[in-house]
Amino acid sequence: MTDAVLLRETIEPGIIRLTFNRPDKLNALSTPMIRALEAEIDAIAADAGVRTVILTGAGERAFVAGADIAEYQGNRTRAFAAYQFESRRVFDKLEALRKPTIAAIRGYALGGGFEIALCCDIIVCAESARLGLPEGLLGLSPGGGGTQRLTRAVGRHAASDIMLAARRITGERAYALGIAAAVVADAELMTTAIERARAVLKVAPLAAAEMKRLIRQGPDSALPVAQAFEQEVLLRLYGTRDGQEGIDAFLAKRDPEFRGE
Ligand code: COA
Repeated sequence: MTDAVLLRETIEPGIIRLTFNRPDKLNALSTPMIRALEAEIDAIAADAGVRTVILTGAGERAFVAGADIAEYQGNRTRAFAAYQFESRRVFDKLEALRKPTIAAIRGYALGGGFEIALCCDIIVCAESARLGLPEGLLGLSPGGGGTQRLTRAVGRHAASDIMLAARRITGERAYALGIAAAVVADAELMTTAIERARAVLKVAPLAAAEMKRLIRQGPDSALPVAQAFEQEVLLRLYGTRDGQEGIDAFLAKRDPEFRGE
């Protein structure tokens, strides 16, 4: 382990792992960490060799236990607002990345940690996972999309229970609510996340990018509008090299070779 607040490793070709790395502070999200995350998102967006990203936390105890509360002290309104604007922008950028992202959560994913997970496409939880938006206990409210993304993900009443009663939910509960795609023993967390990443690699990259956009943006539009967008996407994908390759490979009973074209 290095001193870097965000570690980047290539797990295998196409799969990158980013690890929030301040385990002694439960990986609390400091400004340098947010900046490092943005730099990695930009680099990943520009690198055609990277197809999917796993985000996780260092140590046994946390994914990310929220914004670094130490940075909040002293009623420094301008600095506080700057932190909020910056983290919101970077979280939005993570959500908009045109490559599938996988959050692998063990221990605490609170506040900004849960908000980051909600920006990811697939969430895998360990049994130890505890997810929550406890900002109300600090006299504050979430600011990185939590009130909105969680409510859209689980509905008003489940979201209210998590925020208004400051409930920390388990991985099992996250699975029951449909946030987590899987909940596994802690020792199996990374294997499970990597298996998901390998499955993602089999889906054509342009198709994945377009489906991701449809999944994220569609629910904000009226159904006929979202469906029109869906059909436009499909017709566009049909005309791509990979669209034809997928069909040819199926009929020739061979594995497709997708190139993102
Ligand atoms: N910001 C800054 N430091 C944090 C932090 C945060 N969000 N979460 C944990 N830490 C630090 C603690 O201050 C402590 O540091 P220290 O050892 O230098 O004193 C260390 O991480 C370990 O946390 P600690 O509180 O001692 O562990 P615990 O097991 O008693 O409690 C939590 C774990 C997650 C319940 C508790 O740390 C907590 O409530 N954290 C804040 C969660 C939160 O409100 N997040 C939203 C922020 S907007």
